[in-house]
Amino acid sequence: MQKKVRVAVNGYGVIGKRVADAVARQDDMELVGISDVVVDYRIRVAAERGYPIYASMPEKMGEMKAANLPVAGTLEELLKKVDIVVDATPKGIGAKNKPMYEKAGVKAIWQGGEKHELAGLSFVAQVNYEKALNKQYARVVSCNTTALCRVMNALQKRGLIKRARAVLMRRGTDPWESHKNGMINTVIPETKVPSHQGPDAQTVMEGLNITTLAAAGPYNLSHIHFAIVETTRSISTDELRQALMEEPRIAFVHAHDGLVALNAVIELMRDLERPRHDMWEVAVWEDALDADETDAYITFQVDNESIAIPENIDCIRALTGIERDPIKSMKKTDASLGITKNFLPKTVQMPEMAPAMTEAGAAYMAEGYKGSEEPVPAMPAEQR
Ligand SMILES: NC(=O)c1ccc[n+]([C@@H]2O[C@H](COP(=O)([O-])OP(=O)(O)OC[C@H]3O[C@@H](n4cnc5c(N)ncnc54)[C@H](O)[C@@H]3O)[C@@H](O)[C@H]2O)c1
Repeated sequence: MQKKVRVAVNGYGVIGKRVADAVARQDDMELVGISDVVVDYRIRVAAERGYPIYASMPEKMGEMKAANLPVAGTLEELLKKVDIVVDATPKGIGAKNKPMYEKAGVKAIWQGGEKHELAGLSFVAQVNYEKALNKQYARVVSCNTTALCRVMNALQKRGLIKRARAVLMRRGTDPWESHKNGMINTVIPETKVPSHQGPDAQTVMEGLNITTLAAAGPYNLSHIHFAIVETTRSISTDELRQALMEEPRIAFVHAHDGLVALNAVIELMRDLERPRHDMWEVAVWEDALDADETDAYITFQVDNESIAIPENIDCIRALTGIERDPIKSMKKTDASLGITKNFLPKTVQMPEMAPAMTEAGAAYMAEGYKGSEEPVPAMPAEQR
């Protein structure tokens, strides 16, 4: 049997704790340890999970031990035991960690808060997995950029995009820190045009013609995007639906099922007993899809806390080369997390797939994602 890839996660916050749980679910990876600098309830959960805990800064060791945390050593010591580190520290700190990773000779993955140039490769599994094969470093792009790339890839690979425009309505803050940050009763527009997400998507999808505008609002459950895509030829709504349907990690939701707003979709994730109500898929409102002579219209929800988690898992496989085939890696990740094409397969029909699927689409959709055959698995009790 192939040796398991040994993984460290540095920064056990919104992203890091989810990456750690996802790594622990993979049969080809071993979570050797997690590392942080805090002593509060967040890292105590890692101890409950049985994850070995390390101190990212040696000077924090004493404080962490004094707080009764079972600290196994310093991050530098952890790095000696792993093949790859996933850095999920706050924006800017990841860049400062690079010399330490270089010195330890480990591969590293950063998150979207860091600049593209830090890693030289920005990653979204279904777009550029092969480019990342056996590379030393990569950056998994932000939640918004990941969602834009998944949706745009469905159309770009068919040569359908003349020019895309998207408006991003971002959440004001994350739930865990809502008592510290966030706004009330207002919306704050970004004054830079384009907002950074459009150019960021171009670091993954070269040649994508896209302009984004963004704002943040007074809510903390995910983002919503409105995309208007000028097409290279007139397409039907059915063709648009088909393109999105066969694109990995996009699932349809319907207003007529009561899924009329961001909170309703997140409530569905809770009812499905997904961990931390995570939605790793981009949720596209099928009811709101439309296309006319010149444009396609797409409305979609992006669960910022979780959408990039499967990308981190696939990125580990790509950088370490343990799986060369992007579709195989994505399907393995999807099965381990319960990523689906249909959130309610027993009662909600998927649209009929036309025979004209792309080769990659057919491979992804084969064996699975067939509605009722694929119920979403509940989390094991110990990880809820
Ligand atoms: N929150 C989101 O919605 C989201 C989505 C996608 C990508 N990202 C990106 O992921 C990265 C992490 O963001 P987050 O939201 O998880 O942040 P977070 O603040 O929730 O978590 C960061 C963690 O790193 C720890 N930390 C702080 N300094 C450290 C140090 N020197 N060494 C080790 N650990 C340290 C913190 O204690 C905290 O546990 C950022 O690049 C961010 O832009 C965030």
